[in-house]
Amino acid sequence: MRKFLIAGNWKMHKGVGETSAFIEALLATNPTSVVDVVVSPPYTSLPTAAMLLTGSEIGLAAQNVHWETSGAYTGEISGVMLTEIGASWVIVGHSERRALFGETDRAARDRARAAQEAGLKVIYCIGETLEEREADRTFEVLESQTDGLGALDPSELVIAYEPVWAIGTGRTASPDQAQETHAFVRGCLERAFSTEVADGIRILYGGSLKPGNAHELLPKSDVDGGLIGGASLDVDSFSAIIRAAADCAAGELT
Ligand code: PGA
Repeated sequence: MRKFLIAGNWKMHKGVGETSAFIEALLATNPTSVVDVVVSPPYTSLPTAAMLLTGSEIGLAAQNVHWETSGAYTGEISGVMLTEIGASWVIVGHSERRALFGETDRAARDRARAAQEAGLKVIYCIGETLEEREADRTFEVLESQTDGLGALDPSELVIAYEPVWAIGTGRTASPDQAQETHAFVRGCLERAFSTEVADGIRILYGGSLKPGNAHELLPKSDVDGGLIGGASLDVDSFSAIIRAAADCAAGELT
């Protein structure tokens, strides 16, 4: 059975001081180990976060990584640099990287491959825009975004399906819409790997996931957790989503 993963994507929020305060407060809630939990502060806050998370089960993710280990790439950070400061995860191909910084599928795959070679686990983001959904192109887009993922190590890979129209907008995919799309993505993973391997890969939902809708989205059979932006910035709402996932896991066990 796939273990839920609740990952907070802080984007360009929380410097060192706010990161310390958040992590201390999160640790004080004693988050359950029934659910995997990951936080992803901005680069400059990663060392502080790594220090505070030492000995805890909470994972630490960077929000991007370069595909080379070193070189003349002004402004970039490599996988080995991230593991050196204690990160164990990285988010790759987020739609904001794609839309605002010209990220391509090819670049995202290269980053993911390099990240895994450096020992990082990858949260690989995919998702259609509103125009693509309205033009009935959702599945075609997801198929091309997952093309080539078969070259990655599936045991260190998590997919985040994030419909672009739901990110930061307050609009959420309905639970049925999420399930339908996640099941389609799992089919793409079956073709990239095998049915058995695809069955073990977690597919997170992202896009205005919050305490108010977590209980509806997380029970869907192909929804294995969430990549959370806005609602991950507040310890109370992030913890409430972790608890919702734990409730859901307990429900599945009974
Ligand atoms: P949101 O962001 O939860 O604020 O919609 C999700 C994401 O961009 O990962």
